[in-house]
Amino acid sequence: MDLQILPIDQPNPPISDENNLVFGKQFTDRMFVMEYDTGKGWHSARIQPYAPFVLDPAAMVFHYAQEIFEGLKAFRRADGTIALFRPADNFARFNRSARRMCMPEVDESFLLDALLKLIRFEADWVPHNEGTSLYIRPTMIATEPMLGVRPSNKYLCYIILSPVGAYYKGGVAPVKIWISDYYVRATEGGTGEAKTGGNYAASLYAAKQAAENGYDQVLWLDAKEKRFVEEVGSMNMLFLYDGKIITSPLRGTVLDGITRRSALTLLGEMGYQIEERALTVDEVMEGATNGRLTEAFGTGTAVVISPVGSFCYKESCVQLGDGQPGKLTMKLYHQLTDIQYGKEPDPYSWVTLL
Ligand code: COI
Repeated sequence: MDLQILPIDQPNPPISDENNLVFGKQFTDRMFVMEYDTGKGWHSARIQPYAPFVLDPAAMVFHYAQEIFEGLKAFRRADGTIALFRPADNFARFNRSARRMCMPEVDESFLLDALLKLIRFEADWVPHNEGTSLYIRPTMIATEPMLGVRPSNKYLCYIILSPVGAYYKGGVAPVKIWISDYYVRATEGGTGEAKTGGNYAASLYAAKQAAENGYDQVLWLDAKEKRFVEEVGSMNMLFLYDGKIITSPLRGTVLDGITRRSALTLLGEMGYQIEERALTVDEVMEGATNGRLTEAFGTGTAVVISPVGSFCYKESCVQLGDGQPGKLTMKLYHQLTDIQYGKEPDPYSWVTLL
C-alpha cells in the first residue's frame, strides 16, 4: 500500500510551554489515517493535517464500542535525536486487541514505517525537557453506519501525537490508591486484556468516587472472589514483597503491559526473584503493616513507573514505608528512563532510533 503525504496549510508553532504540558491535551499538526472496507482491505493510507472526522451518527463505534488503541512514546535525547521505545511490541498488541474485538489486523511493519515518517514530519513537537516525551496514540474505530449487533465492515485506523509531561500532576510522586471491594474492571473470558475503550469507560464510575474521596487511582480486584489484586486501569502493579517482585499473572483480565515486561526484565537483571502470582488484598494490607510489603509501584507507558504511597481498602488505610517513593522504585525508574532517553546503553534492543 502506498502512503500518501497531504500538504498542510498553516502549521501551528510547536509547544509554547514545555513546563506545563498536560497529558493528552495538545496534538501535533499532522496525523496518519487509513481506511478499511470488507472485500477491499486497508487502503487510502495517508499522512494528513490533524482534523476532525466526519462520521455517520449510526457509525458502529458510537453504539457498540468496537474500538481499540495503543499508547507508546518517542523520546528526545541529549544529542537531539529521537527514539521510540519498543514500538513493534505495541503494534503486535494492537493486532491482538483487534482479533479480540473482531476488527481487521494491520500490517505491523507498514504501520511502524508510517509512524516513523509521521514523527519525522513532526520532529519539532518532540519536547526537550526532562521527563517529557511525544505520546503516540494509534487507534482503530468501527465506522460502518449500522445498528445491528455484529462486527463492522468499515474501519478507520489513525495515529495522533501529543507532546506530554508527567501523567500525574505530581510527577513521580507517590499515589494514594483505593482498592475497590465492589466495582470490577474485567472478568475472566472478558476483554480485560484487550486495549479497548470499553474497559476504560467501565472504570470511570469507581475512579470518580475514588477521586471524590481523595484517592488518585483505583486498584481492581479479581471479579470472581474480589480477593486477588489485578491492576490499576492505567498501569500494571508490581509489589516488593518478602524481598521478591510479585505481579499479577496474565490470565486475560490484566493488560500485557510493555512497561511491565521491561520492568520485569530489568528487575530480573538486578537479581530479584520474580513471581507472577496474584497477591491477595489481605497480603497487601497486612504486608504494609508487618513489613513484608516494602514497596509497590505501577508501570505503564503513560505513567512510566509510579510509586504507591498508600493503599486504602474498606475502612483502613496503610502507608508504605515512610510514604515516599521506594529506593527500588526510583532505581527502576532511572534505569528505564535512562535507556529511553539514551543516557545508558540499550542491551535489549528496545529502542528504535529515528
Ligand atoms: C498508556 O499507558 O499508554 C495507556 O494506554 C494508559 C492510558 C489509558 C493513559
